[in-house]
Amino acid sequence: MPSALPDGEPAPASGTLPVTALEGLGTRPFGVYVHVPFCRTRCGYCDFNTYTAEELGPGATRTSYAGSAIAELRLAAQVLGADAAPVQTVFVGGGTPTLLPPHDLVAVLGAVREVFGLAPGAEVTTEANPDSVDAESLAALRAGGFTRVSFGMQSAVQHVLAVLDRTHTPGRPQAAVREAYAAGFEQVSLDLIYGAPGESAQDWQRSLDVALDSGPTHVSAYALVVEQGTRLGRQVARGELPAPDDDVLADRYLQAEQALRPLGWYEVSNWGQPCRHNVGYWRGGDWWGVGPGAHSHVGGVRWWNVTHPTAYAGRLAAGASPAVGRELLSGSQRRAERVLLELRLRTGLPLEVLHPAGLAAARRACGDGLLEPAAHADGRAVLTLRGRLLADAVVRDLVD
Ligand SMILES: C[S@@+](CC[C@H](N)C(=O)[O-])C[C@H]1O[C@@H](n2cnc3c(N)ncnc32)[C@H](O)[C@@H]1O
Ligand code: SF4
Repeated sequence: MPSALPDGEPAPASGTLPVTALEGLGTRPFGVYVHVPFCRTRCGYCDFNTYTAEELGPGATRTSYAGSAIAELRLAAQVLGADAAPVQTVFVGGGTPTLLPPHDLVAVLGAVREVFGLAPGAEVTTEANPDSVDAESLAALRAGGFTRVSFGMQSAVQHVLAVLDRTHTPGRPQAAVREAYAAGFEQVSLDLIYGAPGESAQDWQRSLDVALDSGPTHVSAYALVVEQGTRLGRQVARGELPAPDDDVLADRYLQAEQALRPLGWYEVSNWGQPCRHNVGYWRGGDWWGVGPGAHSHVGGVRWWNVTHPTAYAGRLAAGASPAVGRELLSGSQRRAERVLLELRLRTGLPLEVLHPAGLAAARRACGDGLLEPAAHADGRAVLTLRGRLLADAVVRDLVD
């Protein structure tokens, strides 16, 4: 069944993979991502592949979604064969996965277990909007095998939540964290966004303090990105709202590092007990992405699914692969991606990955206070705090 396609050629209907990609499968970490493309309302800043009930149109429904995702998992098992098992991490993201009833999410997890098996101690995460769960639904998810929940808190301050179009009230994320621990979740994460229009340094400090006080095992803090084509993007383009200022964003990042230091950073935007699934992405692992618009990567082959939920459901109902394109990564692409992703990790990048110009740039970056000299002497490129603020520029220099 495996086939060899040139770069960029659409994936065939049967969803086969080149033999080279399948070599070594089962020796590398293997994860499953499940994209749930539904939200109750759309936040003005968000350009993720997600649909409100009005945006969805006829054809696909929330109620039929779990069935389509399970059909894709069965297809995945045929393509990868027995060598892929078992899955070490599952991440259900969105969108708002918890808009689906817990039994649907548990059924999808059950299909992962059935087709690939779950490794002992597997990490099983779902994202959740704080106002889309309650004590009962969290208990059902925990009983069904989820071990980790990641709440989109974003801010603790009402006017910041309002400018971000968030639907929850300021106290709800902390209550959701308590409910998650009471339900027996081992790990609880909070996502925060900084740099929203009108957010002061004091507002951001309050969000950091409130988040930490609720006792999460993990916090992500992202600078607000103004995406083109979003409502926020249009408001900024029309001059109705100011774009985030780079110097302010740098100050906010330093504030985050100061507050979150007790959790410990492990990736530029992440502190605490690492999310093993995301570490798999950053270290070039294998994963199958289930769902509309989901991307997958196995052994240097990357492919992606059709974006709209109706087209996705239709393809699977017809027994066809939902994949619409793929690329075979060249050696230089894989190296550039490795620099880009591993340099963001606290464990850093082995210097042997770099070419001579990149090695020279790494020596200069040490002199400029952007890379840790001690780690450099040990053969690794590890960002300093100043380097984390300028990570994109350091990556550009090291890739040469
Ligand atoms: C896809 S969302 C899923 C979580 C969930 N739907 C929620 O929003 O609560 C994952 C995270 O991406 C972040 N995010 C989405 N769009 C962003 C943007 N334009 N700038 C910065 N962070 C963003 C938010 O912190 C969000 O919690
Ligand atoms: S940020 Fe989360 S809740 Fe808001 S639209 Fe995006 S995926 Fe949906």
